[in-house]
Amino acid sequence: MRITTLKMNGFNNPIGYYADTVTLSWRVEDTCSTKQKGIRVKVATDKKLKDVIFDSGKIKDQDGRGYTLPTLPLKARTRYFYQVEVFGDKDKAKSDVAFFETSKLKEEWTAKWITPEAQDVHPKFVKKFALKGKPVSARLYICGLGLYKANVNGKSVTDDRFAPHFTDYNEWIQYQSYDVTESLKRGNNKIDVLLGNGWYKGVFGLNLTEGLYGKKFALLAELIVNYKDGSTEVISTDTEWECYKTSILDSSIYHGVVVDSRKSLKKQAVLPIDIGFDRLSDARSLPVVVKDTIVPEIITAANGDKLLDFKQNMVGVLRCRFNEESGKKIKINFGEVLQGGNFYNENYRTVRSEIIYTSNGKEVVFEPDFTFFGFRYAFVQGVTDLKAEDFTGLVLYSDFEERGSIETSNKKVNRVIKNAYWGIRGNSLDLPTDCPQRNERMGWTGDCQAISGTANRLFDMNAFYKKWLFELAVEQDADGCVYDVIPKIDYGGKGACAWGDAATVVPFNTYLATGDVSVLKSSYPSMKAWVDFLKSCDKNNENLRYAGEYRQYGDWLAIDNPRVAIDPDCPDGFTDFDYLCSVYFAYSAMLVGKSAEILGNNQDAEKYLQLSLDVKKAIYNKFLKVRKPECNTQTALVLAVALDIVPKNKKQEFVDLLYNKFKEDNFVLRTGFVGTIFVLKTLCENGLKDLAYSIFLSESYPGWLYAIDLGATTIWERWNSLMPDGTVNKGGMNSFNHYAFGMVVEWIYTYSAGIRAGIDGAGFKKFEIAPLPDKRLTSVSGRIMTAGGELASSYEYKGDVLEYNFTVPFDATATVRLDSVKLANLNKEDVEAFKIKETANGVTFKLVTGKYKFAVKL
Ligand code: BGC
Repeated sequence: MRITTLKMNGFNNPIGYYADTVTLSWRVEDTCSTKQKGIRVKVATDKKLKDVIFDSGKIKDQDGRGYTLPTLPLKARTRYFYQVEVFGDKDKAKSDVAFFETSKLKEEWTAKWITPEAQDVHPKFVKKFALKGKPVSARLYICGLGLYKANVNGKSVTDDRFAPHFTDYNEWIQYQSYDVTESLKRGNNKIDVLLGNGWYKGVFGLNLTEGLYGKKFALLAELIVNYKDGSTEVISTDTEWECYKTSILDSSIYHGVVVDSRKSLKKQAVLPIDIGFDRLSDARSLPVVVKDTIVPEIITAANGDKLLDFKQNMVGVLRCRFNEESGKKIKINFGEVLQGGNFYNENYRTVRSEIIYTSNGKEVVFEPDFTFFGFRYAFVQGVTDLKAEDFTGLVLYSDFEERGSIETSNKKVNRVIKNAYWGIRGNSLDLPTDCPQRNERMGWTGDCQAISGTANRLFDMNAFYKKWLFELAVEQDADGCVYDVIPKIDYGGKGACAWGDAATVVPFNTYLATGDVSVLKSSYPSMKAWVDFLKSCDKNNENLRYAGEYRQYGDWLAIDNPRVAIDPDCPDGFTDFDYLCSVYFAYSAMLVGKSAEILGNNQDAEKYLQLSLDVKKAIYNKFLKVRKPECNTQTALVLAVALDIVPKNKKQEFVDLLYNKFKEDNFVLRTGFVGTIFVLKTLCENGLKDLAYSIFLSESYPGWLYAIDLGATTIWERWNSLMPDGTVNKGGMNSFNHYAFGMVVEWIYTYSAGIRAGIDGAGFKKFEIAPLPDKRLTSVSGRIMTAGGELASSYEYKGDVLEYNFTVPFDATATVRLDSVKLANLNKEDVEAFKIKETANGVTFKLVTGKYKFAVKL
């Protein structure tokens, strides 16, 4: 047995991260045991675990999905070591010793906030100081606004490129803590810190507002040095620090950077600035680091321009080697698609998204700071001899791990999965965004709730979503209303159905995929407040929610609105807004009820589950008994069935209505952001599996494979962001890296590979394996890493046999359901050994930890 992937609150050996609650998680791998007999966790102040401050003793009811420790009396700036021991029925193991280290907690800062006199050019602060000896330990506690890059003796203190990250800076500002012991020496030392604009003070938001949270650069830094003799020295920012104007003339998330490397550092005065200390908070953001690199190819555009083609729509920056004469201006622009074989980026709308670099005559390796680009192509101007090897695409996103993968026999389907994978990577630069390239890149809640099921399967999103959900709760109005984008910036929209419901859906999806109760626990007040807000909108006590005064996006980007004939740009689906608002009211109330149940709050469970039932009943009576056309769309019918809005005895009638609706629509998908989440699942759950596969595998517009045939390497915003002839849709909104429709990967996992997460035993401790194979996909193979190690499920048609392979993780149990399989077609020994039972629909049996193969005669 091996214990791997130890994390504290989702972070690997964190320093200075929040620790007011401590949830440990880990993974058990390579074990011959099937059952866990118990675990033991020790926390100590020393690496040898002698000075123990917490010992759980051998306990039975906890595991690596998330074990929240009782509140510990943690001291500031202290490292705590921990070790997990897992006892299996056949073997046991102790983990390596991992640690977490507290921040300054409530300690006062000796450092003062400082700002440069001039705010036009990016400043670099410098502090030179002497140390009386080599420190035994040293920590840098630091925050720079908008963004900062810090070095100690020329060595970067972190790989993180976007500290202190994006928060509602009016509410809370994260500071970071770094172990810089190794970089310091006896004698002369130097800290330098470069500041950029970032989200805090740079141009950001739909209206390109400058200085959303602040107008001035600001730096706060405290270096605490400990010597062997027990003495301590503190080097803190104050107006004695030096400050220089740098060659970075401008930077912004949207527009890119302007650098004139001829400019030499020019000294300027340092002034105090009053940012205060109240908003400073322990870190919650994963670092944003280089997770991948891509070397481009040079292609020649139709008009003769030389372009860099990275062959993949990616998000990040370029590492460039420039060697031009002094004064030569290099300009690099970015684009996602070509038009007429030429460079194109009109879909970036009002953002410039460019690198402008003026050479000082020296050869340099240049990487722009404080910005990122979403692109496949780069148009480089001003470089004398353009060589592909002088450029590397650095793929940036928050430092979370991959946890799942899925492959099928169909290359185009595999590309859809890959596109979702790239979409999630590119839209996770500290916050879940809608897109990474145009004048948005905002935390649109609807997009996040749509993709969260898929994202949680492909990646370990736990810490990433927890930070964003914390933000969501921080900004939530007193009445529980949730903003449409988080951080809310200056957008102002709030209360939108299926967008605000990210408050309930995202934590619940994260819980289902991880089994970590702490995500529900920390989000619960916010989840509940959102549903209370929805109820408060129900002024007449009808158990319905009307769109009311709140801007709604409806079934966003559905293609069923007749208005499209007059307004091709119309993004609103046809489905009735009041109906959608009420359906999501019922859905969120259900999620709160279920969460209350999981958290052991029976009173709330009863209240919200009843509320959900009452709302469903009211919706049926008001909108479904007699349906106006807006409640008779694919999406409306899908939701009615998927979320049990219709009474049980009416369900088949509505399934038939849904089927007929598809027939009327020539079996073409017309759903948007909302309906698409549920459509294929609903068809599969209700005996229409063949139709689900037909829709999914359709190669014509609208459908997932349509984009693949047109060369998509990420998921597009619209079903037809490119028209069949390859021209960009005339609408004003065309992102080629908008992950919402990538939600289909969750369906592939759940219904093709059949890996179904359950509420009881969430995080795949107890789960169903119920693949619904289809001959049009001759094989499908999915896997996901769980707290008990690998879970895998695959099927493959091999001649006259359908072969299934399943891997059940350690300490997990799976109920297998093979629909349409007859007992007689299974191997006799298997039938006996696994107590396989025939049911009305097929066969079912239970599996414990292990690897299994079953063959079904066709
Ligand atoms: C964004 C979407 C977002 C929407 C609100 C768009 O501009 O890019 O993805 O959810 O606005 O409906």
